[in-house]
Amino acid sequence: MKNIITIDGPSGAGKGTITQLVAERLGWHILDSGALYRILGVAAKNQGLLLSDTIDTDVADQVTHLARHLDVEFQLNTTNGEVEPYLSGQNLAKEIRTDEAGQAASQVAAIPSVRDALLARQRDFYQQPGLVADGRDMGTIVFDDAPVKIFLTASAECRAERRYQQLINKGVGANMRALLKSIQARDERDRTRSVAPLVPAVDAFVVDSSSLDIQQVLSQVLVYIEKKLPGNHLD
Ligand code: C5P
Repeated sequence: MKNIITIDGPSGAGKGTITQLVAERLGWHILDSGALYRILGVAAKNQGLLLSDTIDTDVADQVTHLARHLDVEFQLNTTNGEVEPYLSGQNLAKEIRTDEAGQAASQVAAIPSVRDALLARQRDFYQQPGLVADGRDMGTIVFDDAPVKIFLTASAECRAERRYQQLINKGVGANMRALLKSIQARDERDRTRSVAPLVPAVDAFVVDSSSLDIQQVLSQVLVYIEKKLPGNHLD
């Protein structure tokens, strides 16, 4: 049995933070699969490919080709402690975090051949002593045999509110209504796509974080992991 914990759920549910905290506790590696789709979305846009909710076959083929040959690397930035993505040597840490990149990611992610093209690359992230994988289909497809699966969710309103606070704290202007609309559009696309739609794995532990803070979510998740993987020294 491989040491893999999958953490899936909609955007803004706190997966990234929980993934990082759990990985730190265990001393395991991280896969941020959303970053791969975001990089691909940015790369496709940089090449002038026209993305939309109904991408035509020709564009889908070109994005798939790009996905197969994506020259991407993740490197630790020792100054801020963040693992940052590089596309053909160019640091894309900031660029992939925009709302536009998120929308582009979910548009390319709806193309079945793109998901196929990224499958092996995601599985290659597995390394001893273990991996915490964050995404939408980590527990249902990519690591469907993972011994621990978490599905972290929260209401769209609550996720929009958190994002709003994050942006305001960063000194970036934000519009609550626009944020909510964008989150709902991404949810709709992720949940209704024909391939790997966003659903909890049947054997996932579901946590609704709407009325919980991050420490409360973390403690529920750690109790569950300890039950499934006893002796991993989580204290
Ligand atoms: O997690 P993040 O918000 O960075 O993901 C961006 C988009 O990438 C998601 O909205 C989703 O459409 C897509 N994605 C996916 N499968 C994953 C991870 C992300 O389809 N495993």
